[in-house]
Amino acid sequence: MKILGLETSCDETAAATLQITNPKFPLDSLRPLGACRQISKLKIQILSNIVSSQIEIHQKYGGIVPEVAARQHVESIIPVLQEALGYKIQDTTNKIQTNLKSQIPNLKQISNPNPRFNRGQISKPDLIAVTQGPGLITSLQVGLQTAKTLSYVWNVPLIGVNHLEAHLWSFLLNQDTRYNQPFDRLRAYRQETNKLQTSNFKPQTLFPAIGLIVSGGHTEMALVKKIGQYKLIGRTRDDAAGEAFDKVAKLLGIGYPGGPIVSHFAKKGDPAKIDFPRPMIDSDDLDFSFSGLKTAVKYYLKDLIPSGSLSQAMINDICAGFQQAVTEVLVAKTIKAAQKFKVKSVIVGGGVSANEALIENLRLKTENLGITFYHPSKEFTQDNAAMVALAGYFKLKTASENNWQKLTAEPNLLLEY
Ligand code: KG4
Ligand code: ZN
Repeated sequence: MKILGLETSCDETAAATLQITNPKFPLDSLRPLGACRQISKLKIQILSNIVSSQIEIHQKYGGIVPEVAARQHVESIIPVLQEALGYKIQDTTNKIQTNLKSQIPNLKQISNPNPRFNRGQISKPDLIAVTQGPGLITSLQVGLQTAKTLSYVWNVPLIGVNHLEAHLWSFLLNQDTRYNQPFDRLRAYRQETNKLQTSNFKPQTLFPAIGLIVSGGHTEMALVKKIGQYKLIGRTRDDAAGEAFDKVAKLLGIGYPGGPIVSHFAKKGDPAKIDFPRPMIDSDDLDFSFSGLKTAVKYYLKDLIPSGSLSQAMINDICAGFQQAVTEVLVAKTIKAAQKFKVKSVIVGGGVSANEALIENLRLKTENLGITFYHPSKEFTQDNAAMVALAGYFKLKTASENNWQKLTAEPNLLLEY
């Protein structure tokens, strides 16, 4: 089946189309919930995965301005959608089309589509999946209203997706898990040449799992009993992990978003030079707190600046020390949860899961405990609509009727149901 995904929860306007086939289980008898064996049978093909990022627009403010983000979503959504579908959804002339596209910031295909796929061939999809929340209400509305309109006009079922749930399953979009059928030539080629990492995806090692979502707006940890069953066991009490990276970068005046820049400088710094606090690392619960860490960086800078200007070497050490502190807390709490609930796997997702230090630490610690570790490849860590389409597929059971009238934006959705 073909699924169109739409994502506008924050500052990325995204649309993607997936072709999902499940050879063993015909669509009618599909029972996605709890079906970990079925996941291994899924064949997920990304037909298109288009993202227009507003980063440059928000850079001058050092953070996302909700009103500006929503307006840009309105401008971008139709061209992004048309790129993803491979045809115009309204009868506009080529001239208008070209102009429209040229106004859209950073319009790009973020992952390799199936080379044999002719984009113009996507007729209307079999299902539309749209991010319902959490996120900025005005941004969410743009994707939601677009999806509702398409659902009504095409008479195609519509499913609302939890953005955090979409991040959680984004690792299934990785090349090595995407083509995981025994007869798949691509995988066979990989195993033969051993050039690329082969899939370590073993569905029997998946559940129960600890799911850690770390992004610019969220730091949430859930016990995942199966697909669609989540118990929230920890969350940040103040700033999200990505937000802390962004704020520290702002303090250092090194740009926005902070995560990629801080981690870049951190590579050249000494993580042991400055001993920043590890907030709540020994607390009994599984919650997080990152605002004190940001304040510690602020006071460190305050003490430092009167004695001279900030050298690049100092910036590198601050970035390394800060990243080390965030990583240690995230890893310690995740491992604590993994042991407490005796899980088989740890799954991480969200923008901060692009952080190599975090991934390496989690990989090491889980390996030592014999726990399987799943994380998205870099291209799927950022907000995208392919992950939304996939999460929509997992909620298929609830899409028996076309309920576009009933869907509402839910800005405060949690990963718990
Ligand atoms: O998931 P995402 O694209 O959007 C939200 O849903 O929030 O996450 C964006 C966040 C930003 O705060 C950004 O600074 C952070 O992810 N980020 C990183 C890295 N790359 C992006 N944080 C740490 N290290 C990175 N390499
Ligand atoms: Zn996100």
